[in-house]
Amino acid sequence: QARVVAVDGPSGSGKSTVSKRLASALGSAYLDTGAMYRAAALAALRSGVDLADKDAVAEAVRTAKLELGTTPGDPFTRLDGEPVDAEIRGAEVTGAVSAVAGVPAVREHLIAEQRRIIAEAGAGIVVEGRDIAEVVAPDADLKVYLYADELERARRRSAENDTDVSATAADIARRDAADSKTTKPLEAAAGAVAIDTTHLGIDAVVGRMLALLSN
Ligand code: CDP
Repeated sequence: QARVVAVDGPSGSGKSTVSKRLASALGSAYLDTGAMYRAAALAALRSGVDLADKDAVAEAVRTAKLELGTTPGDPFTRLDGEPVDAEIRGAEVTGAVSAVAGVPAVREHLIAEQRRIIAEAGAGIVVEGRDIAEVVAPDADLKVYLYADELERARRRSAENDTDVSATAADIARRDAADSKTTKPLEAAAGAVAIDTTHLGIDAVVGRMLALLSN
């Protein structure tokens, strides 16, 4: 199997930027599993089902058509043929995603899809998420856990989304708490190298990962 790099971490840890840069540097594919859960949440919202009805949510997700672009320079997300890149980062989806990602049948469906994409990546793949090293790709060649101080994570995310820092901090804390029931957003998996990105630039983090891969 081609080289697989697993990058896990909470919101604002820098995992998306770092994962895309690393994939470009390696000439490999890139998979944003968070975008898959976000698109699944949007599918559930659009179907109008009660988000507390796990069977209905799972059915809405299973019948939706999700397409993920795995080129690091153009990682698009489509739902039923339509680009949803902006919408899946909006407040409505962000508010619903932890509940949808917490449905076991949704995870089962998306994890199978993620494993299929990984198996088909002939030039290797960098996969980012929260359960990649532990669940999706435990045989990954390199497992990295990125983390940063809570305030720094909120600052980064609010700069990206042009939102208020304290509201963003509250949203991240709420999602970290909700996600900790299904994934382990705040801890490194066994065998993962933990990197504190609070005071490290993107190039430094990518450099460290490239060094780990060449060892
Ligand atoms: O915005 P942020 O970078 O925090 O999150 P994301 O990577 O876009 O993931 C959005 C949400 O999807 C998370 O808050 C989790 O609820 C869920 N998720 C998950 O359950 N498992 C993954 N492997 C990736 C994301």
